[in-house]
Amino acid sequence: MSNVNHTLHINFEKIPISIYASADQASKSVAREIADLIIRKKKEGKPAILGLATGSSPKKVYAELIRLHKEEGLSFSNVISFNLDEYYPMLPTAPQSYHRFMKENLFDHVDIPKNQFHVPDGTIGMDSVKAFCEAYEKMITDAGGLDFQLLGIGRNGHIGFNEPGSHIDSLTRLITLDFTTRSDAGLDFGGIANVPRKAITLGVKKIMQAKRIVLIAWGEHKSPIIRQAVEGPVAEHLPASYLQGHPNAQIVMDESCAAGLSRRKTPWLFDTVEWNTIMIKKAVTNLALTLEKPILMLTNEDYNENGLSELLARYGQAYDINIEVFNWVQHTITGWPGGKPNADDTYRPERAVPARKRVIIFSPHPDDDIISMGGTFQRLVDQGHDVHVAYQTSGNIAVADDEALRFIEFVRDFNSKFALSNEATDKMYFEANGFLERKKKGEKDIEAVRNIKGLIRVSEAKNTCRFVGVPQENIHFLNMPFYETGTVQKKPLGEEDYKIVTQLIADVKPHQIYAAGDLADPHGTHKVCLDAVIEALHRLKKEPFMKDCWTWLYKGAWAEWDIDLIEMAVPMSPDQVMRKRMGVFKHQSQKDGVVYQGNDAREFWQRAEDRNRATAILYNKLGLAEYAAMEAFVRLKL
Ligand code: F6R
Repeated sequence: MSNVNHTLHINFEKIPISIYASADQASKSVAREIADLIIRKKKEGKPAILGLATGSSPKKVYAELIRLHKEEGLSFSNVISFNLDEYYPMLPTAPQSYHRFMKENLFDHVDIPKNQFHVPDGTIGMDSVKAFCEAYEKMITDAGGLDFQLLGIGRNGHIGFNEPGSHIDSLTRLITLDFTTRSDAGLDFGGIANVPRKAITLGVKKIMQAKRIVLIAWGEHKSPIIRQAVEGPVAEHLPASYLQGHPNAQIVMDESCAAGLSRRKTPWLFDTVEWNTIMIKKAVTNLALTLEKPILMLTNEDYNENGLSELLARYGQAYDINIEVFNWVQHTITGWPGGKPNADDTYRPERAVPARKRVIIFSPHPDDDIISMGGTFQRLVDQGHDVHVAYQTSGNIAVADDEALRFIEFVRDFNSKFALSNEATDKMYFEANGFLERKKKGEKDIEAVRNIKGLIRVSEAKNTCRFVGVPQENIHFLNMPFYETGTVQKKPLGEEDYKIVTQLIADVKPHQIYAAGDLADPHGTHKVCLDAVIEALHRLKKEPFMKDCWTWLYKGAWAEWDIDLIEMAVPMSPDQVMRKRMGVFKHQSQKDGVVYQGNDAREFWQRAEDRNRATAILYNKLGLAEYAAMEAFVRLKL
């Protein structure tokens, strides 16, 4: 953990922060602080008044508290807790209810007396909401106020459900959820249309009155909003920034969330740094992009005036740094992602030999291969490599109900038109149709429907492979079991998952592996799929083929690697961009509005094109050649 010395960061960071290597470690430390408070209060013969949050962020904190209870005898008998919020309307037994969340993730596993925890009631009538909110606040006041408030943060900066625009003195109330919140919640509700429009939330005023506040944030997707909350001005449109004015607030984050902070983006402005290749590349590309100058146009003054005089002193003059960094960046560009045969590969990202490589592309969902690295995929096939594609999960939950019906109807009509035996399909049709007709919002599909949805995605992936030119025998559907819960909540990776991935790598003995390197969402499928690949590589590391096996990481549909991290950039011509678009179109169930759209209205092909174009523009801004688009990769070092 790099605990913070605030003297150096005072200008940029306006809330104390702690950064941990992982969300696991950070969660343990937060749980420890809560446990210590409970124990101290117990010794004083007093209750510990806790303000609690729900969502993905605090789950590991609660898991650690449960462990402390079970293994170290931590008792919750003196805890009185108040949760921040609840959807409205919402039954406490509904799968998405925060009431249920708290019972499943904490209360049912510890010894907190039933009358000592409180979650806002999502069932009360509209007329009673105001009185309920007043009573909720009064209960907190009467208990002596919150000793400790645990917070998460929404990507729009909300705390509790105090959405942007919430006043610092706002009281506990019924609030209308904004679009970002609802689309993020869409995952739990099976689409944004099913997310309630309102919620009851503790007001900012009561939160700010807590004696201690700890806000937790994990993952790259929280990084931009955390940066604004910590470094930006206090603003109504970003309620988390109010914590700047609290005397005892702290933000606890993991490294991937901290990556957006100035202390990570421009560390040389804060401290002495080790000027290795990565740091030099980071500093120079950052300087060029900030000043909007190509690398080769940067001057001694530019370095001196922007906190880089130490770097300048090492090289003597800007010209020498510029040339070196320009060449490094230049050498990442290659039209030969599998290596260029018979060429000098000293300065190329990939090896020339063997000229024909065995390649496995791991695709977490059935369309990540084409969306995230379709141009590179096509080149690898066109350049004669033995390309295998491994679809790690079935992706079945992302297929809409009517899409499933359309296909089962087709099979039934096909059979009936050609007088084929129809009994079994009729039975399946009635079963699936019957279920879908009475399906409740967000309800888990029955197995038959899940299978149909999975098959739809199989056929789409096969269609993409046919389009790109991958032979049937090189297409592998791994159907990793961790995914097959029928809900957004997945099982943890298990031995069966590891075995499947390990076996495939052992069979193919690849020279190159491509895998989705998304670190954005610690609970997301991409990260889990990457963890499985990494574990498999560890298990196989003594195998002779492994010394020639390189792994390249691509990013998923949304983000791109920071320019200074990119080690291979594969350019695309306008025609290649069009071809990739056609490849993405093969995934028809993921077009024209998808189940999990998120808060980005663009379709996947648009997201991919925008992002690939943006990477090409960045290279061009640095003074390198202008391409229509680029796909970028980072090499995995185990
Ligand atoms: C939940 C709550 C919200 C969440 C926030 C982050 O009780 O009040 O403010 O903390 O939306 O949610 P996750 O942790 O799921 O990213």
